[in-house]
Amino acid sequence: MQGEPAFSAAEAQHAALVRDHIAAALEAAGGWFGFDRYMDLALYAPALGYYSAGARKFGGGGDFTTAPEVSPLFGACIARQCAEVLAALPGSSIMEIGAGSGRLSGDILENLEKSALLPRRYWILEVSADLRARQRAHLAERLPHLAARVAWLDAPPAAAFDGMIVANEVLDALPVKRFRRHRDRVEEMGVARAGAEFVWAARPGGAQLAAYSKALAATLGDHWDDGYESEYRPQLIPWSASVTRSLRAGVALWIDYGLPRAQYYMPERRDGTLLCHFRQRVVDDPFRRPGMQDITAWVDFTHLAEAGASAGFEIAGYTTQTYFLAATGIDEHMRDLAADDRNRFARLANQARQLMMPGEMGERFKVMAWRRGLDAALSGFALRDLRHTL
Ligand SMILES: C[S@@+](CC[C@H](N)C(=O)[O-])C[C@H]1O[C@@H](n2cnc3c(N)ncnc32)[C@H](O)[C@@H]1O
Repeated sequence: MQGEPAFSAAEAQHAALVRDHIAAALEAAGGWFGFDRYMDLALYAPALGYYSAGARKFGGGGDFTTAPEVSPLFGACIARQCAEVLAALPGSSIMEIGAGSGRLSGDILENLEKSALLPRRYWILEVSADLRARQRAHLAERLPHLAARVAWLDAPPAAAFDGMIVANEVLDALPVKRFRRHRDRVEEMGVARAGAEFVWAARPGGAQLAAYSKALAATLGDHWDDGYESEYRPQLIPWSASVTRSLRAGVALWIDYGLPRAQYYMPERRDGTLLCHFRQRVVDDPFRRPGMQDITAWVDFTHLAEAGASAGFEIAGYTTQTYFLAATGIDEHMRDLAADDRNRFARLANQARQLMMPGEMGERFKVMAWRRGLDAALSGFALRDLRHTL
């Protein structure tokens, strides 16, 4: 890549360790494995993967920017939705999955404290040891008086609880399989080595992939060109069922970039949705810097709705980020946060534009709510109901 920023000596050394680790796993697997295995190792191998090790990741000096890093307005809006659920289920708790820098946790807690609706417990389910340490430091500095309510979990709570589950930009980071469709067969695009490099290598798709591809053709029509490539997330249904299992009454709120299935697998999107982020650039080669760049793929929200239904939830809402933020009072939060400071108001207005821009974060990002054991209306979805598009 032209003008590519160079690695420091320590980064280059770390990159070599990650590469060796993946190469050893590949060799142990006989020289080929699915892309989901590669993505899992590159992002989550303990102490080595992109999320597990110390890369800066979020915000201005990092590789990409998430909504809570753009503005505290995002957390204020999510907190408004949480408040509604907590008010309907007194004494209930919140579990945030994949809390990144901890900023969203801080924003949610701060806003709920203002409304006198603090959750009984605020759990953070986080796979990355590095990010846990960052979240702990962020919350200890910002809200030391709430420390006793916050706890980190390695697995979802074993005991049933009522309340909210919140996950912003977590689903896109779950590993995907990549496939290539031909007129008469489907191939799995996995990973092999060519010299020192990792490369794509096709194998005949297994039974699960063949069934998935057949089901896609049955519901969407077999209208793809020969050689059409895309992704799917085999873990989505089992993983989301396992992290929501102990939610007895309440709502799971998922925010991520994605599309309903018919748009996700549009014939024109013939190269799928896989992309990588490195220092605020979008990179399309996932093998370029294993462990040093983020790897993501968009979320098929129809698949997420199916996951919700199979886990025993009602799909209570689906809309774009723009409509969700408008419905949870972004204007009002802007005025509250600015107090009477005009410069601050202008800064917040800019951030709100970034979060709500059509064609950008505002429309690419969707919000879905799964609900069970609760009748309360969810005002985040009151302005625009897009469930019919799923
Ligand atoms: C793209 S970051 C988003 C961070 C944060 N939610 C935000 O909006 O800034 C993805 C987060 O999900 C975490 N994560 C990924 N897979 C996870 C899993 N299976 N369980 C829990 N956390 C996970 C990552 O470590 C990271 O904290």
